[in-house]
This record gives sequence, C-alpha cells and structure tokens, in this order.
Amino acid sequence: MAAIVARELTKHYRTSRRREGVWGGVLDLVARRRETVKALSGVSFAIERGETVGLIGPNGAGKSTTIKLLTGILRPTAGELSVLGVSPWRQRRRHAMQIGVVFGQRTQLWWDLAVIEALKLLARIYRVPPADFETRLKTFSEILDLEPILHRPVRKLSLGQRTRCDLAASLLHNPPVLFLDEPTIGMDAAVKARMRDFIRATREINGTTIILTTHDTSDIEELCGRLLLIDRGLLLFDGTLERFKDSYGRWRTLIVDLAEPVDLDRMRQLLGDPDLKLSAPLERRLTIGFDRRACTAHELLARLEGKAPIRDVATAEADIEAIVREIYEGFYP
Ligand SMILES: Nc1ncnc2c1ncn2[C@@H]1O[C@H](COP(=O)(O)OP(=O)(O)OP(=O)(O)O)[C@@H](O)[C@H]1O
Ligand SMILES: [Mg+2]
Repeated sequence: MAAIVARELTKHYRTSRRREGVWGGVLDLVARRRETVKALSGVSFAIERGETVGLIGPNGAGKSTTIKLLTGILRPTAGELSVLGVSPWRQRRRHAMQIGVVFGQRTQLWWDLAVIEALKLLARIYRVPPADFETRLKTFSEILDLEPILHRPVRKLSLGQRTRCDLAASLLHNPPVLFLDEPTIGMDAAVKARMRDFIRATREINGTTIILTTHDTSDIEELCGRLLLIDRGLLLFDGTLERFKDSYGRWRTLIVDLAEPVDLDRMRQLLGDPDLKLSAPLERRLTIGFDRRACTAHELLARLEGKAPIRDVATAEADIEAIVREIYEGFYP
C-alpha cells in the first residue's frame, strides 16, 4: 500500500471579510461578513514509500494548505487522507511520532532557548534515547554545519541558520515521513547545496518518504523524482520531471554558430516564420526558439543550409524554470 493516499482532498477556509474605514470597523463588530476561500478543491494522489515528491504552484495555490492537512495541523473540509495508515487529524499524537516537518517561513523551535536546549527538549518530547540523540546530533551538525550556532538563542539566528536547525529538529526522532514547506527559502547557494546533500543522505540511509514545496525549480531538479503541480486548489500535473518537460516544454532552442557576425534581419528572412524567437547572444551565434510541435530543428537548419555559413549546431531543451513561469503566467490553458 502507498505511504500517503489523498482522495478528493478539499479544504475551505471560512474567514471574515473586513469592511473599510472606522464605520466599517463598527459594522464588522455588529455583523461580520463571512466568506469562503476554496484553498483545495478535490485533490487526489498516492505516494509510495521512499519517494521524494515536489509540490509546486504559484503563490496561493494551496501548497502550504496541503502540507498542513498532511501533518494534521488542519482538518480537511472533505475527502480522505492517510499517511502510513494513520489519519493525520483524527490520530494527531500517533501521527506526530511518525512525521517530521519543517516550515521554512517559521520555526518550531523555542525562540528564547539556545539551539542545543531546544533540540534536547524536542528529543525528550519525542522520547529519543540519549545515545541515539547524541549520534544524530553529531551527524546533523557535521552535514549541516551546526556546531558554531548550537549555543546561540534561536531568535538570533539568520533565516538560513534557523532553517538548518529546524531540519535537524524535524529528524531527531528518525521519522519515516518528512514534510518540508519551502526548506531552502532564504538560503545562499552553498547552504542550499548542504541542505540538499542532507536531504539526499537522509533518504538514502533511512528510505524516508519526502514531500517538499518550493519556489526554486532547481530543488525539484536535484531532489525530486516526481512533481505535483497545483494551481487554485486543483492538481494540474502529477508525474516525473521528464514527463513534465515533455507535456509542457514546447519551446526548444536551436543554437547555430556562424563563420560571420549574425545579421538578424537576414536570418529572419531566411527562416520566414514570425513565431520563431531569434536572438544573437554572441556576435557569431544565432539562437532560434521554436515550438517543437510546429516544426523541427532539422527543418529550420534546412532553411539556412547553403545560405548562411554554418560552423556548428546544438539544441537545448526548455528548462523547467521557464516552463513553470509560462504555466504560472497562464500560457497554457
Ligand atoms: N487561515 C487561512 N484563512 C483563510 N484563508 C487562508 C488561510 N490560509 C490560507 N488561506 C488562503 O488559501 C489559499 C491557499 O493558501 P496556501 O498558503 O495553501 O498557498 P501556497 O500555495 O502555500 O502559497 P505560497 O506559495 O504563497 O506559500 C490562498 O488563497 C490563501 O489566501
Ligand atoms: Mg506556502
């Protein structure tokens, strides 16, 4: 059976809609206007043990809501959810012991304690045997470089430092399932690389099932075998990165190196297709962006053959960053 199963998962938030101005404030006191925000509208997926799945989507898509439902912080409005056979919101305590969670935007550590104290306290809450705590702390400190910050109060840490501590905290009890909501937010390139190494190591050693949300597509490329794309509470895509590129990545680039400086107007004439995206990033290099459903690199080259002094050619796939941007901008229906 799959580690995580969601069926028609739905979450509606009931919030009050505030009126403007002083008089509005008075009216709000007397009679609140309520409104419903449909954060998730029937999302279904199944995740196998040991999978690392990336959850992506524009701001407000419903990613954090999904994580909060999966961790049992919120109760679904409708639909079914099970994580290792446990219902996250009905069996909260039992669920808490089997999951680790990191919200990159906020910390689960006590603000005024030193990092080491906060970790020890968590270890006691989770009943981690002292010997295990020592070994894990040592490993985590090494990979995440925690040593220099262990004795600082949590509130004095930078965002990247704090998230590293949060990640260590989330894994103290060695949970089989890990949820990460924007784990690499605010991290510099070096720390991001460490963080990803750590996530990979955890997965390899313990076979941890991981769901992470991110706005950094390189997290997906480096860590996730599969991605779920949600937008406005609906699941738009569920599959591998290759399939994602195949379904959405309609733009390819043909790179042509010439023996002479590029004359863009002439090239436009030779190619004769207004939908192509032409540019000359180098003096003698022409790049042609084309829709692979409309034509092929071979056809484009044939139009230039014998008329332009071609020295070398290469093609490039659309990168995932560009695809995601196009989807978010409503490029695809
Ligand atoms: N407690 C709440 N009360 C009312 N509406 C909420 C609440 N939390 C989230 N929402 C709304 O639900 C929708 C989904 O929010 P959610 O936080 O899940 O988005 P997200 O995909 O995590 O976005 P981001 O990329 O900005 O983190 C948004 O429209 C948001 O305004
Ligand atoms: Mg979010």
